[in-house]
Amino acid sequence: MSKKRQLKLGALLHGVGGNPAMWRHPDSQPDASVNFELYKKWVRKAEAGKFDLIFIADGLYINEKSIPHFLNRFEPITILSALAAVSTHIGLVGTLSTSYSEPFTVARQFGSLDAISGGRAGWNVVTSPLEGSALNYGKSHPEHDLRYKIAEEYLDVTKGLWDSWEDDAFVRDKESGVFFDPGKLHTLNHQGEFFSVRGPLNIARSRQGQPVIFQAGSSEVGKNYAAKVADAIFTGQENLEDAVRFYKEVKERAVSHGRSKDDVLIFPGIGPIIGSTEEEAERKYQEVANLVTIETALDYLGRFFEHHDFSQYPLDEPFPDLGDLGKNSFQSGTDKIKEEAKEKNLTLRQVALQAATPKGHFIGTPEKVADLIQEYFEAGAVDGFMLSAAVPSGLEDFVDHVVPVLQQRGIFRTEYESDTLRGNLGLPVPANRYAKQPETV
Ligand SMILES: Cc1cc2nc3c(=O)[nH]c(=O)nc-3n(C[C@H](O)[C@H](O)[C@H](O)COP(=O)(O)O)c2cc1C
Repeated sequence: MSKKRQLKLGALLHGVGGNPAMWRHPDSQPDASVNFELYKKWVRKAEAGKFDLIFIADGLYINEKSIPHFLNRFEPITILSALAAVSTHIGLVGTLSTSYSEPFTVARQFGSLDAISGGRAGWNVVTSPLEGSALNYGKSHPEHDLRYKIAEEYLDVTKGLWDSWEDDAFVRDKESGVFFDPGKLHTLNHQGEFFSVRGPLNIARSRQGQPVIFQAGSSEVGKNYAAKVADAIFTGQENLEDAVRFYKEVKERAVSHGRSKDDVLIFPGIGPIIGSTEEEAERKYQEVANLVTIETALDYLGRFFEHHDFSQYPLDEPFPDLGDLGKNSFQSGTDKIKEEAKEKNLTLRQVALQAATPKGHFIGTPEKVADLIQEYFEAGAVDGFMLSAAVPSGLEDFVDHVVPVLQQRGIFRTEYESDTLRGNLGLPVPANRYAKQPETV
């Protein structure tokens, strides 16, 4: 009998949080974004909860209006490499931009993380929404769709570099003095529109073949990119209906690119708030929401629109018409904000507070939250969820109270199936593009 389909879980480790004021909460450690001891504690907790992976988001531009977590935080590869040493099974996924880096360097970095962790690395490929990022790299900011075009060639190069060495290339025979088999070393020689990379790469493939590729971007071009080349997509649907539609669409696009629908996993982000009663969960939400002033919320909202200054508009009138502003940054996110404001006739105050302190549906008792998770999972809306801490105790509450319910219901593992990320996610190990494949009869 085949095993019941299993839910996947990721934990977004996000320092003092995505909420602009959570650092002020009595239970928050205000230095959480640069507190290594805390990150160690979190990764151990997520691993005790049998999570598939931890996830580190990132960005390349800040200003004085950025949220506290963005102002002073760990660089993803560095923190993940350190966390690899204090964990054994959990996947380590980090964000890195294809608009502001070089494929040879990044292939080495993720190749090394994959080797250090014994096959647990993942790369969240992003194209960098913020125009200001260009100021830190002495470049101009490529336009939205061009960023994805660059990302496509970039990933192709990176994957090619990762295959530089066949799995049995390193002979290391002391007797004969043969260190490697030159027939199993491959030079990429890539000459493309955006990159010129000779190779080979100076690190071999890991036990999982290549790092797992995540993608975070939900515009049309973003969805296509994910369907074509990613192993998983981190997204943000707010209700079941949208999530089912998104899931179906991305899977169909994957199939149209000659892939199986199981080759790309869909992970919407949620921020569950758990209480022993509905009232307690509601109180936990309010405690955090009450910390956010309208000024902070306007700054938070502004970032999605190229740090637009929303303080110039009246708060209690309909959300202002912004024209194309936001299209070249967080396109899918800003389109959604504009559409919803129009549809529901929301004021600027309502939009800003909703963005900065989203309540979401996943709030309540452990059973209620588990019911919702199960409903999404069984409705074909998700393969898993990416959890962020909407309250300071978010990860602990979920691992201690919701995970056991999901396990009891048989939809979430009680033991890791594997000690590689691909193994746990049920993704195949990609064959080396140069290696001779066994002949099929
Ligand atoms: C759920 C989600 C998470 C994201 N995380 C990051 C991130 O950590 N760093 C980053 O630079 N961009 C991040 N992005 C931005 C995307 O990579 C992308 O640049 C942006 O959403 C615009 O592309 P799109 O219009 O295709 O969504 C994220 C987007 C989404 C939807």
